[in-house]
Amino acid sequence: MAGQSGAVDLVRLFTEPLPVMVICELFGVPQGEQQQIRDWSHTLLQHTTSPEEMLAANAGLLGYLAAFIERKRDDSGDDLTTGLIRAQEDDGDRLSDSEMMWILWLVLIAGHETTVHLIANTVVALRSDPEQLRFARARNAWEQVVEEALRSRNSVVSVMFRYPLRDVRLGGVTVGTGQPIMIGISSTGTDRARFGGEAQRFDAVREPDAHLGFGRGPHFCLGAPLARLEARIALASLFGRFPDLRLAVESGELPYTSSLITEGPTTLPVLLR
Ligand code: HEM
Repeated sequence: MAGQSGAVDLVRLFTEPLPVMVICELFGVPQGEQQQIRDWSHTLLQHTTSPEEMLAANAGLLGYLAAFIERKRDDSGDDLTTGLIRAQEDDGDRLSDSEMMWILWLVLIAGHETTVHLIANTVVALRSDPEQLRFARARNAWEQVVEEALRSRNSVVSVMFRYPLRDVRLGGVTVGTGQPIMIGISSTGTDRARFGGEAQRFDAVREPDAHLGFGRGPHFCLGAPLARLEARIALASLFGRFPDLRLAVESGELPYTSSLITEGPTTLPVLLR
């Protein structure tokens, strides 16, 4: 696991596998099949994936999910897939097989890299400012840490296009009816007009204030409670187990995703002790 310098890649070993593992458990996917799901999901979310690879991964994942739902009809459990199947049996008109498959697809895709990068971004923020880590540990303030990361280091850069139903004037620009708007949601958290002159700074001690980290309105993140819980447990456990964990390179040297959708380090070399 460790490289020559003793550094390990926290993305590869911890932040990347964890969210898919959690989602697979939620779906009731057996352990032996989880790695394949992780690979498909990873391929689908890379901006370096070719169209052919993308189509192949998506076909693989959708095919798996359709077959998995069929298998679960005779193998029920305390999981989301069984819950969806029951809902369909109770009221067959409202949930088609295809919708069920796409719900699982969406939860996987929406809950994977978002959480991977949020945890990694928070580790970088905490390790770049010892005061913050001290505060988190001394006060067991992981909840505040996660909220501050969602505000100032959000993993979601932008969200789906929105199309105004009428002409709107925003920041001195008129956006016409039906024109696509891409909202840079991560930058809303560091808006100085909203969060003050120190908006860019990660500061878990600051008075918590509403942010748009999980979006707003009818499409507000379905997985927000799970993401909050997962990030809190992951960070508390990581720094509890490895209190001296530190970055093995300067934070400015870390390679980041080149994506318009999610942002976080692609590798995160750390020294555990
Ligand atoms: C730190 C982690 C996460 C962040 C920052 C995040 C952020 C977001 C944001 C900003 C949206 C709104 C998208 C829009 O308005 O177009 C969204 C939607 C969504 N998220 Fe999350 N998310 C996270 C984790 C998760 C997890 C763990 C799950 C599920 C297990 C999940 C499932 C969803 C789903 C299904 C939607 C679509 C909701 C809809 O369109 O009605 N997310 N998320």
